Amino acid sequence: MTRDTEDDITNTGSETETETKTETDADIDIETKSGYAIDIGTDVDTHNDDIDVAALSTATAVSDGGAAGADDVALDPWGSSTVSDYQKLFTEFGIETFDDVLPAVPNPHYLMRRGVIFGHRGYDPVAEALQNNDPVAVLSGFMPTGDPHIGHKLVFDEIIWHQQRGADAYALIADLEAHAARGLSWSEIDDHARDYLLSLLALGFDPESGELYRQSENRELQDFAFELGSKANFSEFEGIYGFDSETNVAYMQSVITQMADILYPQLEEPKPTVIPVGPDQDPHVRFARDLAARMRFFKVTKAYASFELTESERELVAAVYDERETYAEDVSRPRCAEAATWLVDNLVTPVDNGSDDARNEDTDVSPDTLGIIVPDAVIESTIKKLENAGMEPLRPRVRFLDANATDEAFEALITAIDGEKRRYDEHIDAFDLSAADATDLAREVETNNGGYGFVAPSSIYHRFMTGLTGGKMSSSVPASHISLLDDPETGYEKVKSATTGGRETAEKQRELGGKADECPVYELYAYLLANDDDTLATQVYDECVSGDRLCGSCKEQAAKLMQAFLEEHQEKRKEVESLLEDADISLISDRRTVAPSDTADSTDNENT
Ligand code: TRP
Ligand code: SF4
Repeated sequence: MTRDTEDDITNTGSETETETKTETDADIDIETKSGYAIDIGTDVDTHNDDIDVAALSTATAVSDGGAAGADDVALDPWGSSTVSDYQKLFTEFGIETFDDVLPAVPNPHYLMRRGVIFGHRGYDPVAEALQNNDPVAVLSGFMPTGDPHIGHKLVFDEIIWHQQRGADAYALIADLEAHAARGLSWSEIDDHARDYLLSLLALGFDPESGELYRQSENRELQDFAFELGSKANFSEFEGIYGFDSETNVAYMQSVITQMADILYPQLEEPKPTVIPVGPDQDPHVRFARDLAARMRFFKVTKAYASFELTESERELVAAVYDERETYAEDVSRPRCAEAATWLVDNLVTPVDNGSDDARNEDTDVSPDTLGIIVPDAVIESTIKKLENAGMEPLRPRVRFLDANATDEAFEALITAIDGEKRRYDEHIDAFDLSAADATDLAREVETNNGGYGFVAPSSIYHRFMTGLTGGKMSSSVPASHISLLDDPETGYEKVKSATTGGRETAEKQRELGGKADECPVYELYAYLLANDDDTLATQVYDECVSGDRLCGSCKEQAAKLMQAFLEEHQEKRKEVESLLEDADISLISDRRTVAPSDTADSTDNENT
């Protein structure tokens, strides 16, 4: 299949770049605004090897613990391009595979079962909360830059699914972002916003129990965004998004507003929150997770002695502590000095001059000595710290670090800790608390003392749909997508003229089978038309690859289903109009405007 890839949107907002590339082989170079071309490699597993994903831009990633160091490239939320390799999202970006968490999800949605939702960040607490009927929230946002289409339906469905399972549900219109980053006028924004909301309601969002808002109208959100701004600095915007001195300030305001969106469901009370989005939004999610942590009063870590350890040093000390029987004179009180000596004897390779301080540069701790791999530099620094502590005993404990706590909160925490505790200037050690209890306690004291106590927000990522004409699905190419507002007849026609994964002749098709994995029509079945009916999705797939199904009739069936879906959806849109009028969201903006400048044009990222 020959694919036309439209690369668009700068990530700095200072100029618009539209390029057309033709991909002839599976390896795709993505050119980013900054001029770096990143080879994002070839095929992964299933369905699409031809998928919209954001351009990759070089960036220093924001660390959020787990993902730290995994990435020197970042997904670009304002870019748009084609990617063939979802695997990279796991290895380079530290996105987790959804399969891992799927067994923990009660009655998973068909998009989860079929691998359309392929990845997540920290979804486990959300799954757990759904299972236990604990407080949990779902939120996503939509830039009203065009008609809502079948890509957006994935996100609508994800929000609604969580809402129906008891989550507090939020859907927002990112009108500030659309205005700032895409240069849309307020009246265009108003029209599109209305269309997004009607489709969301028509698909089943309950506005009574859920909340709808527009960024521009939400004062609480904007105040909170301002607050978050004090925890973010420009170098991060450079690192994460490639912003530079030419970048429009409104871009930064859009980002910080989105950070506020993501944490908004927790303003009342901290709770696990899932943000369903396309993977292009992952930089935003990581940044939000980072900011959530920075807003906390306390940081809870494990510790073994009074001094501070880095994460890798702590891992090493934990392992050495487990070996205490082999070196401690009194096993109940292994001394730091004893642990240091043991480390020197066991993990340090002496060199010829006899000094046991020097060690072989390339030797890591062999996994069979301690079961972990630690760089030499870490061994060295750990030994130093242990030696300095001398006779101090190694004793596991949890540590509450004072990050942003007020004096009262710090005092309140000391009082609240049960059992043996020790107080230091900047931290408190507790000896009789589990790490989980300590985390809960820290949050409780924080919220009782005027803090937010945020839980790190989670995300789930869905695959982008392939355009009906091959290539990417794009709002600017009507034939490539099906708008939820398309005339049912038009929807029918678009499916009928879609590219397929079929062979040149019916004969060959019967002999070799079709390529369902590369077929936009098959995607339509799996992502939408088969709905909850796995049997239909499987049937289409099996019949296709075995050669029992020919494209003509397959498309006819799909086209009819699409037509029926659009008819029904548009009928429902009419029915929910009154719901929308009653909903607490304003549909008209009364704002002045100047002609947009310095914004990227409205070719966009789909499905986000
Ligand atoms: N930036 C998103 C987009 O490009 C829209 C958005 C704004 C959003 N705020 C959000 C998405 C919060 C998820 C959560 O479409
Ligand atoms: Fe696609 Fe259907 Fe043709 Fe298979 S038979 S390639 S699923 S259109």
